[in-house]
Amino acid sequence: MTIEYADLSGQVALITGGAGAIGRAISRGLAGNGVKVVLVDIDEPRLESYSIELGEEFGPRSTLAVKADVRDSEQVREAFAAALREFGRLDILVNNAAATQIKPIDLLSDADIDLILDTNLKGYVRCAREAVRVMKAAGTKGSLLFISSKNGLVGASDKSLYCAAKGGELTLARALAMELGEFGIRVNTICPDAVLEGSGLWEDDDYRQGTAKRYNISEAEIPDYYRDRCALKTNIRPEDVANAALFLLSGQASKITGAIIPVDGGVAFVR
Ligand SMILES: NC(=O)c1ccc[n+]([C@@H]2O[C@H](COP(=O)([O-])OP(=O)(O)OC[C@H]3O[C@@H](n4cnc5c(N)ncnc54)[C@H](O)[C@@H]3O)[C@@H](O)[C@H]2O)c1
Repeated sequence: MTIEYADLSGQVALITGGAGAIGRAISRGLAGNGVKVVLVDIDEPRLESYSIELGEEFGPRSTLAVKADVRDSEQVREAFAAALREFGRLDILVNNAAATQIKPIDLLSDADIDLILDTNLKGYVRCAREAVRVMKAAGTKGSLLFISSKNGLVGASDKSLYCAAKGGELTLARALAMELGEFGIRVNTICPDAVLEGSGLWEDDDYRQGTAKRYNISEAEIPDYYRDRCALKTNIRPEDVANAALFLLSGQASKITGAIIPVDGGVAFVR
């Protein structure tokens, strides 16, 4: 059940990783509030099938799917240009596309370093740069939302690159909140704990096996492990992240910028 934020209606949002679990939940919540959504992803089959699904639910003119790689500045520029051609404005960027990995630092290849930093941290910079160019040119008091991670707040062994990228996203968001406040552009971050349901990150065998090994549990015990370690004894679902996202993007959060909101059932507490 989507919470309603009337002021979102008529806005346009670009969501990177829009075909993934959290991107789908956020875009569905936004579309349910009358926002036109531009889904950006490299996974063409998922992108196509999900945009058809959204179109059937909210109307064919509610959604635009753009295949683009956030590691490529030209493709990012073209994705924003396509959004403007289709909908004529941009109010919201959700930086969400990600790659992850479990590997000790001494085994990292140059390709690993490039993949994780380019997709996560540098991808967030590229998309924020483009969104701010569009918003400043139009005088739009827009909103940027970064999906970071509990791993941006708390280090995890064998995930140093991902932690560094996710921590960088947090600092990037806070710096941009300072820089863009005078233009009325808000920048906030959500840090989820593990979201297992529908997440492509967890479809990777190495990632699941590496996680199980790290906690000395079986793969089947992963959901219980995450549930039992948090204060609320619960698992985090994509919709839980979307609920926080919708609030932060809505006018109800008009005085909130530079915030870091954990959606983790109580694992990493932020001051
Ligand atoms: N699932 C979790 O356990 C979890 C926990 C904490 C934070 N997060 C964060 O939440 C966000 C979404 O994760 P998710 O669980 O929905 O994962 P997901 O794999 O389901 O979605 C990520 C999407 O990003 C896309 N993507 C990857 N590289 C890309 C690129 N170079 N250009 C464009 N798109 C690209 C993928 O195709 C995928 O559709 C990520 O930023 C992730 O770091 C996830």
